Amino acid sequence: MNVTLGHHTRHYRTVWFEAKTNRVHLIEQRLLPHRFEIVATRDFRETARAIRDMIVRGAPAIAATAAYGLAQGVLAFRGSNLDRFTAHAESVYQTIKSARPTAVDPVNAMNQVRAVMAGGETVGEQQALALAAAEQFANESVEHCRAIGRHGAALIRRGLNVLTHCNAGWLACVDLGTATAPIYTAQAQGRKFHVFCDETRPRCQGSTLTAWELAQQGVPHHVIADNAAGHLMQRGEIDLVIVGSDRVLGRTGEVANKIGTYTKAVLAHRHGIPFYVAIPLSTIDWTLKRGFDIPIEEREEAEVLGAWGVVRGSRFKVQGSKLGQRVFVQVGNPTSGARNPGFDVTPPELITGIITPAGILKPKELWPRRRELGW
Ligand code: MRU
Repeated sequence: MNVTLGHHTRHYRTVWFEAKTNRVHLIEQRLLPHRFEIVATRDFRETARAIRDMIVRGAPAIAATAAYGLAQGVLAFRGSNLDRFTAHAESVYQTIKSARPTAVDPVNAMNQVRAVMAGGETVGEQQALALAAAEQFANESVEHCRAIGRHGAALIRRGLNVLTHCNAGWLACVDLGTATAPIYTAQAQGRKFHVFCDETRPRCQGSTLTAWELAQQGVPHHVIADNAAGHLMQRGEIDLVIVGSDRVLGRTGEVANKIGTYTKAVLAHRHGIPFYVAIPLSTIDWTLKRGFDIPIEEREEAEVLGAWGVVRGSRFKVQGSKLGQRVFVQVGNPTSGARNPGFDVTPPELITGIITPAGILKPKELWPRRRELGW
């Protein structure tokens, strides 16, 4: 998507690879919306750390990062012994896989790269194939988002108020986004509508990332506290919900996504508001049989008890800090513990449709159409 900084507008992907230096380039998402910076990871361990520490986040974005990270790791191998190369590739794969547990996209992406690599007979051939497969994954991911936009745009009629949760925008993907693809496509088709971004505590991906993206693209929007959605639904101020996902079970249609998604789905159901989930094919897990078995990331309690932000005007200025400085402030009682599950699972009966690159499907239609969807 285009980023405008001062008077300059430039197109950026969220993640890209520079073969000459063997570096993965990423937008440093922890600094947004206050600073726009690019970081480049020098080896696969740094790439895995960038995923773990959420420099890059969002299921399809960490998938492309994982695919490039695997290519980066295998390209750094020196020598021609295929057995040693294969053991090295396995350790790169496991290191990146363990960075974050809930999203299935990085695993699917790396499996795709590994399957292509296996066609090479020498170390050099496998290295070249790994890089080509990582690029192909990233390009396909963009095409999937484009198709999601085409299928989903018709849902966004003129004058609607759309609610989205967390950030399933272009920052969470390679480009365009999943939940935001229908929004950007409807905007390009000339329709006027309005978006509510859930703040998405504790890390605030909605108020920081989605709001920044929508502001950059000129989409009218407001940030709301996570607790406000029920009230707005009750008053008829929300017409449609679109969210992304980190893992959709192909067998059951259950959807794992950012904590709070399930709550919004229950509320939408109660108020008869359509609730859609937008996903590329890399988000489908065809093997797990029950949503209960999806590994749910438990994050540190400090995220719940405090918040990151930048120092603004004097009324709220933190003593000893400079204006514009990024600081962490303790909000909650310092002697209390906190629980911080990062994701939840929404059952299929609360989901109106899943917007896929192959069209909008009922959650229970995924399994019968698995061949067409890439299983
Ligand atoms: O913890 P995050 O920021 O990686 O969580 C991101 C989400 O939950 C997104 O909604 C999901 O990855 C879908 S992104 C298209």
